Amino acid sequence: MKDYLRVNGKRAIVTGAAKGIGFAIARAFAAHGIKVMLCDIDDACAREGLAAIQAEGGTAAYCHMDIFRVEEIRRAVAETVRLWGGVDILVNNVGGGEPPVAFEEISDERWDHFIRFNLYGAFYMTREVFPHMKEQGYGKIVNISSGYAIGGGDFCAHYAAAKAGLIGFTTSVAREAAPCHVTVNVIPVPTTDTPAMRLTDTPEMIEQEARETPMGRIAVPEDIADTALFLVSEASDYLTGQIVAPNGGKRMLV
Ligand SMILES: NC(=O)c1ccc[n+]([C@@H]2O[C@H](COP(=O)([O-])OP(=O)(O)OC[C@H]3O[C@@H](n4cnc5c(N)ncnc54)[C@H](O)[C@@H]3O)[C@@H](O)[C@H]2O)c1
Repeated sequence: MKDYLRVNGKRAIVTGAAKGIGFAIARAFAAHGIKVMLCDIDDACAREGLAAIQAEGGTAAYCHMDIFRVEEIRRAVAETVRLWGGVDILVNNVGGGEPPVAFEEISDERWDHFIRFNLYGAFYMTREVFPHMKEQGYGKIVNISSGYAIGGGDFCAHYAAAKAGLIGFTTSVAREAAPCHVTVNVIPVPTTDTPAMRLTDTPEMIEQEARETPMGRIAVPEDIADTALFLVSEASDYLTGQIVAPNGGKRMLV
């Protein structure tokens, strides 16, 4: 049978891979033969996830990495290169918001924190990984943004601004990286059932989201992982600088 994805043996870094969407992505990658470096700050949870992936026959490793610390980002990339000789795939997944807050009430510190958390980390990580991809003339970068970056979100202006920045970062880097055969795409994730979403969204918000989604349900992490898998596969080699939205039909124009 023809291998449609052609990802077997590729080497990936997934940030924020201990739980939620990052873990689902790491697990899906490993199930398709991709070697995965899980990076996170939650060591206990990440080690559990690593063990689960390995028990399923996947090749994976874990490196503690705080996305706010450039030296830890450098160490995680160096460790991946030391282990597997290079990096073919990067998923910038770390990020998140907080419970609804009116924009006039966002302090300078909270604004700064959420822009750093959702945008700076992806820049630091991409800057560190890209030279390896450039040298080998091949790479796949997927940035995890949010539907709020496009349609806006209620009471999360700092988070939405950072995630919108990630879209601009994606399209600009995609242009620069295309001659090196490195693709860069972005997933504007819709409401997805993860531990973080249960903290930031009220049950009423979740019900409303399901009602407004033509497919009648919110996403699960595996929906996002399937899209990420396609975007890091050779099946998407001519696809770059794109906003690819697995959203149950919620926004048809995205
Ligand atoms: N779940 C949703 O509804 C939703 C919607 C839109 C966008 N997103 C985006 O998807 C991504 C994943 O979200 P999720 O819901 O799976 O979140 P999550 O909180 O369930 O998982 C995030 C992971 O990042 C790790 N992490 C937190 N701070 C870190 C740091 N400083 N350095 C390294 N790792 C750190 C956490 O330990 C955790 O494992 C985020 O970028 C989020 O903004 C999620």
